[in-house]
Amino acid sequence: MVSEIAYGNWITHGSQVEADAAHACVRAALDAGITTFDTADVYAGTRAESVLGDALAGVRRESYELFTKVFWPTGPGRNDRGLSRKHIIESCHASLRRLQTDHIDLYQAHRFDVETPLEETLRAFDDLVRQGKVLYVGVSEWNAEQISDAVRIAAEMGFDRIVSNQPQYNMLWRVIESEVVPTCERAGIGQVVFSPLAQGVLTGKYKPGEQPPPGSRATDRNGGADFIARWLDDDVLTAVQRLQPLADDAGLPLGTLAIAWVLQNPNVSAAIIGASRPEQVHANVQAAGVRLDDDLLKRIDEVLDPLVERDPGKTQQLAQRP
Ligand SMILES: NC(=O)c1ccc[n+]([C@@H]2O[C@H](COP(=O)([O-])OP(=O)(O)OC[C@H]3O[C@@H](n4cnc5c(N)ncnc54)[C@H](OP(=O)(O)O)[C@@H]3O)[C@@H](O)[C@H]2O)c1
Repeated sequence: MVSEIAYGNWITHGSQVEADAAHACVRAALDAGITTFDTADVYAGTRAESVLGDALAGVRRESYELFTKVFWPTGPGRNDRGLSRKHIIESCHASLRRLQTDHIDLYQAHRFDVETPLEETLRAFDDLVRQGKVLYVGVSEWNAEQISDAVRIAAEMGFDRIVSNQPQYNMLWRVIESEVVPTCERAGIGQVVFSPLAQGVLTGKYKPGEQPPPGSRATDRNGGADFIARWLDDDVLTAVQRLQPLADDAGLPLGTLAIAWVLQNPNVSAAIIGASRPEQVHANVQAAGVRLDDDLLKRIDEVLDPLVERDPGKTQQLAQRP
């Protein structure tokens, strides 16, 4: 079981925000009923896991679910990356140390690795499960074929099966809907989706033709500004402003409407939100339990339709290891 809203610390912890602000966000998340926390070995050059480990120290381990990931480079060596047995086992041990725990609740393959046989990856994950270091295994940004292959191989080999996929999903980015979601529904796999606010763009705070608000991700020179840049397009920002009256009619802040939107998909188990300050956590958890009626969903589509990305080929695939 996970909380419908999860809290993730990409871009923020160990980078954009100081440790005090990071701890305050984790505290706000716990106070607001969030029990699911998502990080990765690679975030902030491994510092994000350490910050999260410090922030959760002393909290009863059984009361929250800790998710992390492996794949992206954590060091300069050719074995400090990918989904080989060597890197999975070594990175898992390093994550456990940084997170100050003896088990990870959900360990996710952060991308598909074309350079490792899938059997090797799944067996390494299965070994970690048998050792009790990992309780469940998931993937992130895998396409429908890769997910099907993993399910088939796990069944054939008797390995623990994957339970989740972590894709990008929001009102503007719907590439999972046509292939990944039907495949996962058949296999009993849930989506734990990231960037439900398109990194903050779907709160409406970035206005077309205006400078980004001070302190926002678009002003973060440690990497945040580069990642959000693709959304800071005047056509997108103008369309997002046109959603504001719809949110007003529904009596919801625009960001809350955007997070509630991803949760309407029955295959979505949780929306992972980011936050640089506690007030954002408190605002965003209001999306839990909100039902959006069909008329509102239709009006959202009418506003956004020409800008929505639906091509399943846009699932993030790498031709070789980074
Ligand atoms: N698997 C993957 O490859 C992958 C990739 C990306 C993310 N993720 C996961 O998903 C998590 C969330 O991603 P994300 O941070 O892009 O999610 P997001 O929820 O779309 O964006 C979060 C950012 O939006 C701004 N924001 C949030 N609430 C706001 C509010 N109420 N009002 C105004 N601004 C608000 C904040 O940035 P500012 O205050 O700085 O503007 C915040 O850091 C990550 O931490 C990570 O765990 C996974």
